[in-house]
Amino acid sequence: MAEIKNIVMIGAGLMGHNAAQICLMAGYNVTLVDIKDEFVDNGATKIVEGLKKLEAKGKLGENVSADNLIANLKKSIDLVSAVKDADFIIEAVVERMDVKKQVFKTCDENSPPHCILASNTSTMSITEIATATNRADKVIGVHFFNPPILMRLIEVIAGEKSSDEAMDIGVQVSKSLPCLKGKRFVPKVLKDRPGFIVNRLNAPGQIYLNWVFDTAAEKGIPWRQIDADAAGLMPMGPCELSDYVGIDTIYHGAKYYEKTLSPDFKPGKVITKMFEENKLGRKSPQGFFDWSAGRPKIDKSTKSGLFKVEQIMAIMLNEGCRLLEEKVVSGFKVIDDANMAGMNTPGPFGGGKKQYEKWSKLLEELADETGKDYLRPCDLMKSGGFVDMRK
Ligand code: NAI
Repeated sequence: MAEIKNIVMIGAGLMGHNAAQICLMAGYNVTLVDIKDEFVDNGATKIVEGLKKLEAKGKLGENVSADNLIANLKKSIDLVSAVKDADFIIEAVVERMDVKKQVFKTCDENSPPHCILASNTSTMSITEIATATNRADKVIGVHFFNPPILMRLIEVIAGEKSSDEAMDIGVQVSKSLPCLKGKRFVPKVLKDRPGFIVNRLNAPGQIYLNWVFDTAAEKGIPWRQIDADAAGLMPMGPCELSDYVGIDTIYHGAKYYEKTLSPDFKPGKVITKMFEENKLGRKSPQGFFDWSAGRPKIDKSTKSGLFKVEQIMAIMLNEGCRLLEEKVVSGFKVIDDANMAGMNTPGPFGGGKKQYEKWSKLLEELADETGKDYLRPCDLMKSGGFVDMRK
């Protein structure tokens, strides 16, 4: 096992500061880096507050004090000097390839040769990021879920040139980071494909939802009736959930998959219009529903019958089978476990093992009805061959 003592976290924003906090809690020395003092200070303040709160609740463990952990935190706005003793670097800067490449180049030029360079990107190719360095074998993805301290999943992603050793160190470090909601789940993502595991599994449901939203708009079906269709089956209906996630996040996600996976991901008319009108959901606070007085009270007494949860499960099973076909993972148990650890919902294979024939037929019909060929079942789903690929 590699001896990792010094972790550098680059980017003190939403993800960076929280990931840095769990690195401290795991006992590492952490240097938090950003481009301006005020950004690093903001991140560090949140870390201190977070640790003090946990200490007050007795959750830091025996003989561990917030002050002891805080003493292991350094702040920096000079990346060159910050990485000079680093063993493991995690980049959590803005989601822009040019910025990430510049950061990786600087890290490569100034960190010790053994240092692993990891990116927390949600959407960018690890292989491409690695081209900015002369150590592509030591560049990996370490993909946290928001917030890292509460979400059990961390996906460790191999770029084309990542070595097995670098991947193993990525898993070792990720597993060592505490999570308040249970045991860490750290799957290896064996191929650098868009969306990695969990985001990919959940992405094509949006193709179907676009059709549901656009059809409802055409027919004058109220949003509350769509959410009523999901009542009792999902904690939030699809309209409320979209507002909760953010219409901009959904729009940008769809654009990304439109470019990288299939034109069928193109954002639908309803989502595009809401995005353009800045109706972004909970945060704006108007979307499908009005959130100005907090979580909307939705009258779910009448169903529309348009939205069906079973279609979503079938679509997820199909995408899970594609992940297996593309060798992103070797078995379906990893996919189901990852979905539970990253989304707190079951994956599609539990039900899919028995339902794949029915669901394949259902997807053929859905593809005909929506005109979206991406929804057609792949060979592995139709054949049920995935059943033998458990591990
Ligand atoms: P954020 O905007 O909250 O934070 C980004 C930080 O990076 C900012 O403080 C910014 O000043 C800093 N930064 C920009 N350029 C820099 C540079 N050259 N050197 C050092 N710091 C720099 O963004 P967020 O949400 O924390 O996202 C960061 C990364 O994590 C992105 O790659 C994103 O895709 C990924 N991610 C985000 C998730 C989320 O739910 N927000 C979930 C999983 C991954």
